[in-house]
Amino acid sequence: MKWISCLSAVATLLVSSSSIAAQDVEKRVSALIERMSLAEKIGQMTQAERSHASPKDVKDYFIGSILNGGGSVPGENERSDWVGMISDYQDAARSTRLGIPILYGTDAVHGHSNVKNATIFPHNVGLGATRNPELAYSIGLATAKEVAATGIHWTFAPTLCVARDDRWGRAYECFGEEPSLVAEFAEPFVKGLQGDTLNGNTIGENRVIATAKHWVADGGTTYGTGDEGYAIDRGDTQLTDEELQRLHISPYLPALSSDVGSVMVSYSSVNGKKMHEHKGLVSDLLKDELGFVGFTISDWSALGEIPAETNRERVVRSINAGLDMIMEPEKWQEFITDLTAAVKAGEVPMERIDEAVRRILLVKASSGLLENPVSPLALSAQGDSVLGNDEHRALARQAVRESMVLLKNEKSLLPIEKKSKIFVAGVHANDIGFQSGGWTLEWQGKSGIDTQGTTILEGIQAAVSTVTYSEDGKGVEGHDVAIVVVGEDPYAEGWGDYRPAPCEKCKPMSLSAEQRQLLDRVTDSGVPTVVVIVSGRPLMVSDQISDWQSVVAAWLPGTEGAGVADVLFGEYAPTGKLPVTWPRNLAQIPINFGDEDYDPLFPYGFGLSY
Ligand code: GLC
Repeated sequence: MKWISCLSAVATLLVSSSSIAAQDVEKRVSALIERMSLAEKIGQMTQAERSHASPKDVKDYFIGSILNGGGSVPGENERSDWVGMISDYQDAARSTRLGIPILYGTDAVHGHSNVKNATIFPHNVGLGATRNPELAYSIGLATAKEVAATGIHWTFAPTLCVARDDRWGRAYECFGEEPSLVAEFAEPFVKGLQGDTLNGNTIGENRVIATAKHWVADGGTTYGTGDEGYAIDRGDTQLTDEELQRLHISPYLPALSSDVGSVMVSYSSVNGKKMHEHKGLVSDLLKDELGFVGFTISDWSALGEIPAETNRERVVRSINAGLDMIMEPEKWQEFITDLTAAVKAGEVPMERIDEAVRRILLVKASSGLLENPVSPLALSAQGDSVLGNDEHRALARQAVRESMVLLKNEKSLLPIEKKSKIFVAGVHANDIGFQSGGWTLEWQGKSGIDTQGTTILEGIQAAVSTVTYSEDGKGVEGHDVAIVVVGEDPYAEGWGDYRPAPCEKCKPMSLSAEQRQLLDRVTDSGVPTVVVIVSGRPLMVSDQISDWQSVVAAWLPGTEGAGVADVLFGEYAPTGKLPVTWPRNLAQIPINFGDEDYDPLFPYGFGLSY
């Protein structure tokens, strides 16, 4: 690809600056590899899910990594349950001949989001609205501490997708639609999680290994090309090399130069070729040209989506393309069997196996895992005061404040006088699950999750003395101001893809009939109305917005809903700017900053203040 040469300058910078490949670490790893059997090597390349692999399996098959899927939690989901589980896995791993500890990975994508009472930060689209990358560093650091307190070493974050089509159910996992905005958040987030580099003691310092994902162009797929029955998720990104580099590869460069320990490969395809078998983009570009020295990991059972006759063929094509560790949550034994047979049959060269194992062990060694199989914080009583502590919740509340985007404010209705008689309506005003979105305690997220936090309503009630709450909006008459909180129900991945007709695994990108009725009921009363939209992306509101005096986009704020009240009552004047274009209607999508005939309802970068 012709533009590879213009990236090679970056490559020399990346490799020379990386401490993953530091000389002493290299020597240590080479000595280890010399001693390893094929079974031990392939074990290191295997990642299984916690409910499908026991500590005994780790011992018997030399498994190198365990993960938990969204919502898969040990015991009562208490910190002690996590620490106990990971300690059991590590005891098993260290009882093997070479005693190489496992790497445990989890999706701490907006805080330690599977763990009860952890701090849940705004999803990335809200962080993009803050235009404050330093916040990302602080959030990465706070998240690392909460993850380390549970004994976990590795998070599958940050997501560096560029949201080019908001009909994609994962658009909210992106910092925005502009590659330059996503790139601004890459380095601080990675360094907040890992520290400045993988310095040999990352885990000893209660930091965690980060993952840049999903390589590459997961946010650029064409609507209608979705895989596995989805409308757009896991689809095909059809771009020229130049567009691919400019839009989707460029945000990874700051992450790579920050020593990100792993890169997760995307389910999606580029110009018709599945990324999980794309040697050109995984080995030739990411590893050879850009100098990435960490390890690549597949996505969840993603090899199964490679079009081939047998699993062994899928394994051969993926490993030979440059995948180093395979996330095969349930069928990990089949993976081990197929890869072993393929190596013995010469279908996968031993050099490729050794390269994959070298990369994995380099990260294990340079992160300090070999000396700290369980983070110190996990083993100390100090760890009890980390999950969801006041400091982290205050940080999350600040992030919520800064993520609010004021879209409309007729007659300066906002900020609301605190002595006013306030009326609050809508289910989204009083549900931490709705305000946190997907990837929160459950993979898909859900209403009424059991975790500590403050709903938007509770934030309002704490700020002013006269508040009436009516879920359906009845009884609004006689109040000074109405605050109606509406939005999307939680979703994750392709289950959030847009489709016009209702279905189990899709979303309408518009307000429900009940919400529209609620809004009409309140605005018809003549009470000045503020509408707060809780969503992972722009919703189609053009036909009703003229009835709303003020409008605030709140995105998916997480557990600290009080940050919304801070803006509504003027504790904090809104500074948020749209990270994505807000379309007039669905027919405009995909619509992005820089398009010709660009005429959205609200443009990228729009945001009012007081
Ligand atoms: C999911 C997602 C990926 C996540 C992984 C583990 O399918 O695509 O972002 O890290 O599986 O949960």
